[in-house]
Amino acid sequence: MSSDKKYKLAVIPGDGTGPEVVREGLKVLEAVSKKCDFKYDKVMYDFGGERYKKTGEVLPDSALDEFRKMDAIYLGAVGHPDVKPGILEKGLLLKLRFSLEQYINLRPVKLYPGVWTPLKDKGPEDIDFVVVRENNEGLYVGEGEFVKKGTKDEVAIQVSRNTRKGVERCLRYAFEYTRKRNKEKKLTLCGKTNVLTYAWDLWERVFHEVAKEYKDIKTDYAHVDATCMWMIKNPEWFDVIVTDNMFGDIITDLGAMIQGGMGIAAGGNLNPEGVSMFEPIGGSAPKYTGKNVINPLAAICALGMLLDEIGEEKAAKMVESSVMKITTKLKSLAAGKMGYSTSEVGDLVVKNL
Ligand code: IPM
Ligand code: MN
Repeated sequence: MSSDKKYKLAVIPGDGTGPEVVREGLKVLEAVSKKCDFKYDKVMYDFGGERYKKTGEVLPDSALDEFRKMDAIYLGAVGHPDVKPGILEKGLLLKLRFSLEQYINLRPVKLYPGVWTPLKDKGPEDIDFVVVRENNEGLYVGEGEFVKKGTKDEVAIQVSRNTRKGVERCLRYAFEYTRKRNKEKKLTLCGKTNVLTYAWDLWERVFHEVAKEYKDIKTDYAHVDATCMWMIKNPEWFDVIVTDNMFGDIITDLGAMIQGGMGIAAGGNLNPEGVSMFEPIGGSAPKYTGKNVINPLAAICALGMLLDEIGEEKAAKMVESSVMKITTKLKSLAAGKMGYSTSEVGDLVVKNL
């Protein structure tokens, strides 16, 4: 990158512990930008539960227009105990993902050195795969209806919408990503072809069609229930998994647990042709808010993914290597049990860059 370029970052600390972990992420950004000699401007946005309670506003369209001109978005957490579930999730997080066409949700599942995993006899060499989750379609489109609501004959219909274009762009991204990752060069489609015979018929057909263009990539298929089983029994079998929005939501929480929990799990909502957004995948953790005990590593790892996406690969690698040094020092990744405070963990990452 030419040194006169200045990145523009939107920062949405959000609710609960979001601001605490984002603060540490920004601390790391500041330090790594100096080491790698790049410049950035950050614009802070106060969207989230507090603002909604005060103003009734969740995410105005004018903000979306501003985001479209940014290089990336850094998000803390969404979810407030005094706000009805669904309002912020749909009105903020999903609205961002959908409006900015962030059609990929990328979630690395990697066990770092020294991190405790609930899987017996498995170590960092066994747990290192990536889930590519479709992020704009499926059950998340929110289509459906009630028939005879409130009666004994009530029917609730929830539609899973899968478009050829939406499925294909997700699969293409997954094949490209598997090639670029260059590990086992193996892509597993995770679906439910034996029961959901419309959606997964389409996914499977397009998968095999696109696979013809990627002869160097080995392909595999597993039903979603079996995928859950293998993730526990033989996680080392996976390199890259591609799946739809709902299954991806579920298996990535399972993935987060085997990599050491929400304290470390990060994700990217990617629009490969537009503006992407990065977040720690744990929630707003109201219980730990304001106590300086939450683990900021997930947010710091999300920052690492952000740096990689905007083209600062060296900075991204430095952040990850530093995190990998810190994980051996923490007593646990769980909030309140790290042996360090939130800000001390941020300082440690900065020191080890
Ligand atoms: C996630 C979250 C969201 C989702 C919620 C908060 C809407 O669980 O990012 O995985 O279901 O996608
Ligand atoms: Mn989820």
